[in-house]
Amino acid sequence: MSSAKPDLLKVAMPKGRIYKQASKLFRAAGLPIPADFDDTRKLVIELPEVGMEFIMAKPVDVPTYVEYGVADIGVVGKDVLMEEDKDVYELLDLGIAKCRMSVIGLPDWKPTIHPRVATKYPNVASQYFREQGQQVEVIKLNGSIELAPLIGLADRIVDMVETGQTLRENGLVEMKEIFGITSRLIANRVSYRMKNEAIQGLCDRLQSAIAAKV
Ligand code: PRP
Repeated sequence: MSSAKPDLLKVAMPKGRIYKQASKLFRAAGLPIPADFDDTRKLVIELPEVGMEFIMAKPVDVPTYVEYGVADIGVVGKDVLMEEDKDVYELLDLGIAKCRMSVIGLPDWKPTIHPRVATKYPNVASQYFREQGQQVEVIKLNGSIELAPLIGLADRIVDMVETGQTLRENGLVEMKEIFGITSRLIANRVSYRMKNEAIQGLCDRLQSAIAAKV
């Protein structure tokens, strides 16, 4: 028997540092996300009053859920979008979680014969150095990237800088900004056609909330 559940708009939300700012923006757009969502360990949360279902995802996986259509839309950082290169529509710059992608090293860095670059973003790093005409070995790490130049795994890293605190506390310097990062609203291509009214309505409300903040 098929369930008589209404067709909710499925939204992949990134857990962690973006979530607080994203939920604040959604609330400003008139979507009453209950405050207890902010600390819950629940992964799928229905909000039938606003016709939505939130999927609490690891940020790097948001584009995958959206590409496969198990989420209709999602909130994701431009860093993840650049790295993952998924087939999704980028609908809106939400202007939140501002930071940048940069090349970072020790202040006394000098070119080496066999340069190594550690990063959580191997595609972004490889493309950047290829465009610079520099041959480097890219080493993928999953976190605490700043360790790499400190303990001699790599001579530089490509990583996100937000406040710069991690760099300062570890005696590292930003050598070059590669691109600026903010969070984006993305949509599955089929959902965008089939649920256009709901998605467009949400975009309009978010856009007004973003404009009201500026
Ligand atoms: C990110 C990033 C930097 C840090 C930058 O790490 O990789 O390490 O934040 O922020 P800051 O400029 O404000 O210091 P994250 O906190 O995501 O943890 P990670 O070490 O697991 O990557």
